[in-house]
Amino acid sequence: MISEAYINQVVKEIFEDVKFAEQPEGLYDPLRYMLSIGGKRIRPKLCILAYSIFRDDLYDVIVEPALALEIFHSFTLIHDDIMDRSELRRGQPTVWKKWDEDTAILSGDVMNIESFRRMASVPVKYLGTVLPLFVSTAAQVCEGQQLDLEFEKLPQVSMGGYMKMIGLKTAVLLACCAKIGAIIGGASAQDAEFMYEYGYQLGLAFQVSDDYLDTYGDEAVFGKPIGGDIVNNKKSWLLTRAREKDEDGGELNEAMAMPVGTEAERKAKVRAVKSVYNALGVDKDAIEEISRLTSLAMESALKVSVSSVRIEMLRRFAESLVGRSI
Ligand code: IPE
Ligand code: IPE
Ligand code: MG
Ligand code: MG
Ligand code: MG
Repeated sequence: MISEAYINQVVKEIFEDVKFAEQPEGLYDPLRYMLSIGGKRIRPKLCILAYSIFRDDLYDVIVEPALALEIFHSFTLIHDDIMDRSELRRGQPTVWKKWDEDTAILSGDVMNIESFRRMASVPVKYLGTVLPLFVSTAAQVCEGQQLDLEFEKLPQVSMGGYMKMIGLKTAVLLACCAKIGAIIGGASAQDAEFMYEYGYQLGLAFQVSDDYLDTYGDEAVFGKPIGGDIVNNKKSWLLTRAREKDEDGGELNEAMAMPVGTEAERKAKVRAVKSVYNALGVDKDAIEEISRLTSLAMESALKVSVSSVRIEMLRRFAESLVGRSI
């Protein structure tokens, strides 16, 4: 059986070895920068893990799809950081901040293209299932990002609306990673679907945990600015849950309406909103929700027709993902 340590090693090596075009530097340097500053690389890890649930040998065939998934994800982050006005990513300046917005748009575009080029190189016998899945997933991520932006302008959204939005912007990509790995690993159509469901529920848990850390995390570990969701009026899980719990909403409305023109004002708003969250206990609710969604992911994993040692690998992966501090 392929071990998790080996998967981590393979993911590390494929990113050390990967080559991109050199010229023009202004286009490809940000791409190299974004991939070199790391990140958790959970998507290629999940893809290779899903593959290795069904196979005991690691062939090159899984390398290009795994790279494609991380390159695609990193592209979405470059554009996301422009949209969210975020200045820090993976503990480093974001691409639009280090270069400029035009550079970030175009380098993001070329990464998107690069990811499709690599995904399209899978052997022909998988192409007909893998490529349409990747294409529809990529479109769904854009749909989710659009909803995320539209929600900023709304006073509040329902929990159902929030779940739909994060399902699109985050969960479908993790689901796609798990399913592509399973397909190339030779899983039956039924098992590939269970793996998709596992990845989807895990993706929901992961985004709720990201929203939690955006307010309650440690910037040095999280690698992103704390409080950005509050400043941007994001309909995060915490805000959505707070609205559900707070019937009157007066204090929350007041805190959310605070100005954010200066650094001092932004800090004051984050403090005020966080104190409403604390009073309502939505931080604890988030932790419960993350654990509920992780259990749902495991319910799907348990349906996959492989031995229990292999299912345990999926459990450990799920736990490592949501128990993260970054
Ligand atoms: C960030 O993804 C965007 C979300 C879906 C929350 P990650 O937390 O996987 O970011 P990196 O790749 O590790 O930087
Ligand atoms: C981003 O969600 C999801 C995608 C990039 C598709 P967030 O905006 O919460 O991600 P972070 O927190 O900036 O990583
Ligand atoms: Mg965003
Ligand atoms: Mg963001
Ligand atoms: Mg976030």
